[in-house]
Amino acid sequence: MEPIDKLQNEIVQIKSSFQNMLKDAKNREGLQKLRSTFLSKKGEVGRLYQQLKDLSSEEKKDAGKNIQQLESFIEEFIKKEENNLENLEKEEILKNEWMDVTLPSDLFNKRPIFDGHLSPISIFNNKIQDIFLSLGFTIADGPQVENEYFNFTALNIPETHPARDMQDTFWMTNGLLLRTHTSCIQARMIQKLKPPFRLIAPGRVFRNEATDASHENTFYQIEGFMVDKNISVANLIYFMKLLLSEIFEKEVTIRLRPGYFPFVEPGFELDIQCLICHGKGCPVCKQVGWVELVPCGLVHPEVLKEGGVNPDVYSGFAFGLGLNRLAMMKLAIDDIRWFESGDLRFANQF
Ligand code: FA5
Repeated sequence: MEPIDKLQNEIVQIKSSFQNMLKDAKNREGLQKLRSTFLSKKGEVGRLYQQLKDLSSEEKKDAGKNIQQLESFIEEFIKKEENNLENLEKEEILKNEWMDVTLPSDLFNKRPIFDGHLSPISIFNNKIQDIFLSLGFTIADGPQVENEYFNFTALNIPETHPARDMQDTFWMTNGLLLRTHTSCIQARMIQKLKPPFRLIAPGRVFRNEATDASHENTFYQIEGFMVDKNISVANLIYFMKLLLSEIFEKEVTIRLRPGYFPFVEPGFELDIQCLICHGKGCPVCKQVGWVELVPCGLVHPEVLKEGGVNPDVYSGFAFGLGLNRLAMMKLAIDDIRWFESGDLRFANQF
């Protein structure tokens, strides 16, 4: 066989063997191997160039062109595969490194997410709101930083009245105070609204007092009040009984005894038999077997007058439910300080 024919045959064979090998070269290593097999100095294409010296100058021209074409062909295909590979690698990197910066940090760091949940105070607050909303009450709100007038004076507790000492107060340097009860919302609403009205006012209240199993310095109350013509103690008792039977979903023993609050007349203390010790006596009920739950009474005529409501025409009832103590009774929680403790062992039970 003439050297030129042998060379042309080899060009065809090398092209076909390159095409076969290219199919299997799917990574950088494979492509590198192809490059060195075909394109390095001592590679297949290099060997073809060496054979040119055995050809006539006319044959050299043709064959040289064919070898160059083969070389470009191989170069082009290796380059193309290298580019494809590079794009795949980039995609892979993007896929792995992609991050959603809006994710909560726990998920972001691939830690399990713990859903938040309502505190027992919120659960009971919502439940009581639902009960009263279904009875035609609406919800009122007021500031936690209150003034002396609404917290005391408008509620028939003038400056020198000893009843101010009944609720130890956190005073602020600017003369304002942290409200000691939700009754100040009652005072605000009586001044703002025209009777008849029935409202509940849930909120956080503060007392500057030592804590124990049943006393906190930060706790929650729900004030309820209704002003209309001919409101009597019978209306008050009806709503209190309804409330407690809905909340406790069972018979609970209650007692009503006279209680003194300057903003109601007559005033009562509604106590519930302690559900922790069932009346036997424990630290929560201070060994007496009963827990003060809902002080209440008929709105004092002076409070109505101060609010611009004529006490000869209208009367009203009001109550101030201690939400923490209610939750303690319902859930058998033996110390009120758990609520503000921030202890997750407590919080996660609800
Ligand atoms: C009052 O705060 C009155 N404003 C309630 C009221 C409203 C009476 C309307 C009449 C008419 P008292 O200080 O008793 O009352 O508190 C009401 C309830 O809040 C208590 O029965 C109790 O359940 C809860 N409570 C009072 N002090 C604390 C405390 N330190 N820690 C936890 N709960 C408390």
